[in-house]
Amino acid sequence: MRHSIVAGNWKMHKNAQETTDFLNELIEKLPSDKEVEIIVAPSFTNLLIAAKHLEHTNIGVAAQNMHQAEGGAFTGEISADMLTSIGTHIVLLGHSERRQYFKETDSILAAKADTALKHNMRIIFCVGEELKDRQNKQYQNVVYYQLKDALFHLPKAAWENIVIAYEPVWAIGTGETATAEQAQEMHKFIREQIEYQYDRDTAESVSILYGGSVKPENAREIFSKPDVDGGLIGGAALHPDDFIAIINAV
Ligand code: G3P
Repeated sequence: MRHSIVAGNWKMHKNAQETTDFLNELIEKLPSDKEVEIIVAPSFTNLLIAAKHLEHTNIGVAAQNMHQAEGGAFTGEISADMLTSIGTHIVLLGHSERRQYFKETDSILAAKADTALKHNMRIIFCVGEELKDRQNKQYQNVVYYQLKDALFHLPKAAWENIVIAYEPVWAIGTGETATAEQAQEMHKFIREQIEYQYDRDTAESVSILYGGSVKPENAREIFSKPDVDGGLIGGAALHPDDFIAIINAV
């Protein structure tokens, strides 16, 4: 069901000790009065540490990726079964860095989504346009086809396990945050496409997060928009005080 979520995508940051130190500080400083789901997404090597540290909290643990195959000769890859066996039941899919650096196509992402759902995992599925698409006003077209080609084959019931994260590529790691109005426009568009593909109840039940240079100073305005249900945070999620300030902005 739709609810507020603040998720921290740590990307390729923090070793085992840094993970332990961060989580100890986060647990200590966590606000207890917020109606928001909090998720951290450490690297694979820190998932078990995070799961153990957070087992008595309401903080969720997500993987940043997974392979679409059930297993096999895929050196260096991680399967859904491996993730769920260590208590990781949430996975980020479709991040622009996976698409750009690792050439993940919409059809690969569709297969990853199928496998994750088969293992009863929740998916935070990332979509977002590049600067050229924004400049030539193709941004809605780009995001529509990312949704259609990776997710719209799924049955309606699957959407109980799907969160969408809109991350304009030109705002990721750049400090060029989308305006709250730009975020709302795209989030509303995404919700409308889900309604057209399925129905209004399904569209209204999906949490849609914004990601791309969210900081303590801009989070409240972005999160205040009607179709923004929280954020997927990169750089600011690596610092406990900043991450908590963003949680408090919900
Ligand atoms: O997945 C979240 C990430 O892409 C956003 O990064 O550093 O712009 O908050 P950042």
